[in-house]
Amino acid sequence: MGLRPLAERYADRLPLPKDAAIVSLGEGSTPLLPAPRIGARVGAEVFLKWEGANPTGSFKDRGMTVAVTQALADGARAVVCASTGNTAASAAAYAARAGLEAVILQPEGAVARGKLAQARAVGAKVEVRPSFEEALAEAKELEARGTHVLVNSLNPLRLQGQKTAAFEIVEELGSAPDILALPYGGGGNLCAYALGFGEEGAGVPRLIAAEAANRAGTVASAIRISEPPHAEDARRAVEDSGGGVVALDDTAILEAWELLAREEGVFCEPSSAAGLAALFTDPPGNARVVCVVTGHGLKDPDSVA
Ligand code: F0G
Repeated sequence: MGLRPLAERYADRLPLPKDAAIVSLGEGSTPLLPAPRIGARVGAEVFLKWEGANPTGSFKDRGMTVAVTQALADGARAVVCASTGNTAASAAAYAARAGLEAVILQPEGAVARGKLAQARAVGAKVEVRPSFEEALAEAKELEARGTHVLVNSLNPLRLQGQKTAAFEIVEELGSAPDILALPYGGGGNLCAYALGFGEEGAGVPRLIAAEAANRAGTVASAIRISEPPHAEDARRAVEDSGGGVVALDDTAILEAWELLAREEGVFCEPSSAAGLAALFTDPPGNARVVCVVTGHGLKDPDSVA
């Protein structure tokens, strides 16, 4: 039997048609791991929401199952996204599962090797553009022409799916944590967590948005985005929660990344350690903290060297 698909488990809290054929690869229900050694270092009770355990190795699968299920129900033939790699890997896999074509527009030189392999292996059409911003502009054009469904997080169904991670955290802890720390790239995931905790009714934790100080050139390629598409909503979500945005240099991100692997056995990609790096930069004090660890280390093996 295995895990229930996320879209089935939370059917009453997702805006999908009742009779839709769910496109699933077994996403969601990811581990919430206690991290006692790291907790001792920052003087807090720390848990890791290990999203690398999703089918394509990142949190994107939560949103993609919902967006692609709806696209299929609507009779779409093709999906398109701009991506630094994880959205691409996820879109490509769910499209393959649904029998749809996937077009991936990726920024030049910014996509980790594992992610590219994932998209190619399942038959996506991959094209390179000079930057994420240009790739996204073109993806939006394809959507406007009506030939492709956009499955970037500007598609609201993506955030609907991603909000379920907040539900899982509250289910496991019995309440919302005091603090939720996570990487901030485009900002969609921040908004999704704010939405999820809000709907859960257990209060929204202080959101710590961990961004790369050098957004355009960070080693954390997944969050190499100069102009976050959700900047406005993300800023408001962070402010409303009483949290903050922490800008990190690459050294801080890589130190947290190495520590996660060596002290807790969690091998993630560099960008995924940004939430933890923010905790080191700005220690939370005596609090219950969840760090969202967004993507698997196998996606970016070159970073280890
Ligand atoms: N962590 C990972 C591993 C990511 O791939 C991303 C975004 C983020 C964090 C940031 O999430 O954009 O919602 O603030 N990756 C996108 C992509 C941009 O194309 O895969 P966000």
